[in-house]
Amino acid sequence: MMTRAEVISWLRETDPARLEDLWACSDGMRQRHVGDEVHRRGLIEISSYCVRSCCYCGLRAGNIKASRYRMSDVEIWDAVKMAADFSYGTVVLQSGEDPGLKTDRVASLVRRIKSETPLAVTLSLGEREPDELRAWREAGADRYLLRFETSDLKLFRAIHPDLPGRRSDRLAQLEVMRSLGYEVGSGVMVGIPGQSFASLAGDLRVFKDLDLDMIGVGPYLPHPETPLGSGWKPRALRSGEQVPVTAEMTCKVMALTRLLCPDSNIPSTTALATIDPERGRELGLLRGANVVMPNLTPLRYRAAYEIYPGKVCIAESATDCHGCLERRIRALGRRPGKAQGGRRRGPIGEAEILRRSHGEGVLDRR
Ligand code: 5AD
Ligand code: FES
Repeated sequence: MMTRAEVISWLRETDPARLEDLWACSDGMRQRHVGDEVHRRGLIEISSYCVRSCCYCGLRAGNIKASRYRMSDVEIWDAVKMAADFSYGTVVLQSGEDPGLKTDRVASLVRRIKSETPLAVTLSLGEREPDELRAWREAGADRYLLRFETSDLKLFRAIHPDLPGRRSDRLAQLEVMRSLGYEVGSGVMVGIPGQSFASLAGDLRVFKDLDLDMIGVGPYLPHPETPLGSGWKPRALRSGEQVPVTAEMTCKVMALTRLLCPDSNIPSTTALATIDPERGRELGLLRGANVVMPNLTPLRYRAAYEIYPGKVCIAESATDCHGCLERRIRALGRRPGKAQGGRRRGPIGEAEILRRSHGEGVLDRR
């Protein structure tokens, strides 16, 4: 078990040789716990409407320049069929926090996907009422994704204005999902203005404490039509050392995530591919990740789902992304998974893994 000081020290590490050790450790852990298969989760961005005002996100309600769409059932179904045709194990229905996506409509969609395809269904529709989460679970939804973004409560509150009368509490939401029997996914952004190394170490601790089934980690990318992206920084957060936004910093967090949560499913995120379009996907897969999320959103909507600018795959069709990711996976000597690829808990104890596989001393600091 790594101490907090060790985690922070790894997060600050710059020595290339030591970082190579870290990458090798996390890749070995990945291979022993989740194997060489790369699971594909077909992503359908079903609505770009959002009532929230997260200070980093291009879909925030106040961004009047954002163009908004909500996919029809027919459009969603066409995308779902592509996921099944490509043998993806999972389809992810994602959106802004959109009250226009009604409980019953989502439940019907889930029910249809579960009865007519072999796909697992992941929902990522923001903070929703417990009753809705229950209805969707009862309709057959398998998993829910909701990133807590940062475990630093002060930072979280500074960048997530509440809706009137509704206090945002993502950890409580994750608890509800867990109690309903969802596989639970969460995650953070790396390099949020005001984020410190200590708070990132806290994030990693929370990943482990929550025993998350899925953990998404991506770099924070400034969006000009947002408060954080236009240089605003909450008063309380102006001091302290800032975590940089780089592919390497993101990879350190992913690698440590794999070491702390050996059998979680970890995606190589689109945001990582966006800061390093040449190698980002690969770096993620080589440093802890075992999942990719090919985009199935119809081309005409891609550009509108602009969480951050410069997002890759804006001009590529579902078929393009399918081929691109398959090639990238195989070029690494890995293979695309065809099953649902849910969480499997590894039988090997942590101490044993460290002893067997890392060579003595690699993880010892000082
Ligand atoms: N840069 C990087 N990631 C972002 N997200 C939202 N806005 C940004 C941004 N500007 C991430 C959040 C959210 C997920 C869907 O996308 O972590 O949970
Ligand atoms: Fe979309 Fe490579 S994954 S083009």
